[in-house]
Amino acid sequence: MLKFIVLADLHLVPKGETSHSIDTGERMEKAFEFVNTHHNDADFMVIAGDIADHGEPAAYERFKDALGQLKIPTFLTLGNHDNRATFLKILGAEHADETGNVNHVIDMKGHRIIILDSSDPDTGGAGRFEQSQLNWLQSKLDEAKDLPVIIVLHHNITKFHVQTDFLILQDNAAFAKVVSSHRDIRQVISGHVHMNVSGSYKGIPFCTVAGCHYNIEPTLQSASGPIPARVARREGPGQIGIVLSNEDSTVVHMQNFLDGNDVMAAKHFVWKPRD
Ligand SMILES: [Fe+2]
Repeated sequence: MLKFIVLADLHLVPKGETSHSIDTGERMEKAFEFVNTHHNDADFMVIAGDIADHGEPAAYERFKDALGQLKIPTFLTLGNHDNRATFLKILGAEHADETGNVNHVIDMKGHRIIILDSSDPDTGGAGRFEQSQLNWLQSKLDEAKDLPVIIVLHHNITKFHVQTDFLILQDNAAFAKVVSSHRDIRQVISGHVHMNVSGSYKGIPFCTVAGCHYNIEPTLQSASGPIPARVARREGPGQIGIVLSNEDSTVVHMQNFLDGNDVMAAKHFVWKPRD
């Protein structure tokens, strides 16, 4: 069984600062502790972008120091809040592949996992792939032959009918065309939206992990009017995705490492055999 963790949206700030009043450094520490304690049997973890809140060098330095705590191998990619040049300078040029993007291909336990860098400094926060990156993706899918493939990237691949729809992966139809050429795409997993959504786009199954930062309520467009300008945001929970996959099935659990709800007492769940 392949098991890996997806964490997203750290929005890390320099020490002593907060992001929207939230101590994202503390939340990252809690996420890392949680993974080390409860999921140190995972094959690896992916941190799916928005590592820094605004591409700050001091945030990447802080992140680099924290990475050493992790007990499982960790792969990184970037989101719209990241700065690729600053990231590569501080974390190391080896995080970029031959296309210059922070992409990775992992072949493990009968699967191919493709991690895609959808960040683009010129889109104002939306995701975008160059044609060269789509060509690269096509070649990696072709190489995979019959292997099941799981893709992880920062941006969501279709509109969710919420306020952030203008920030999705811009060239999503071209992306879907390439991805659809592979016969066994198990899941496309993203962060970015700070909420859980699952569904399909042009037949491609996807889900999003709420991630490490604040959560956004999915305030939807009503039939009678436009999407409300203000959305409710909650400080918790902080959440990871846990991917479990074998030859037949792929399951993604969303697990909260921070949650205000109490764990219910065991006495409420006493199992009584039937007569
Ligand atoms: Fe984002």
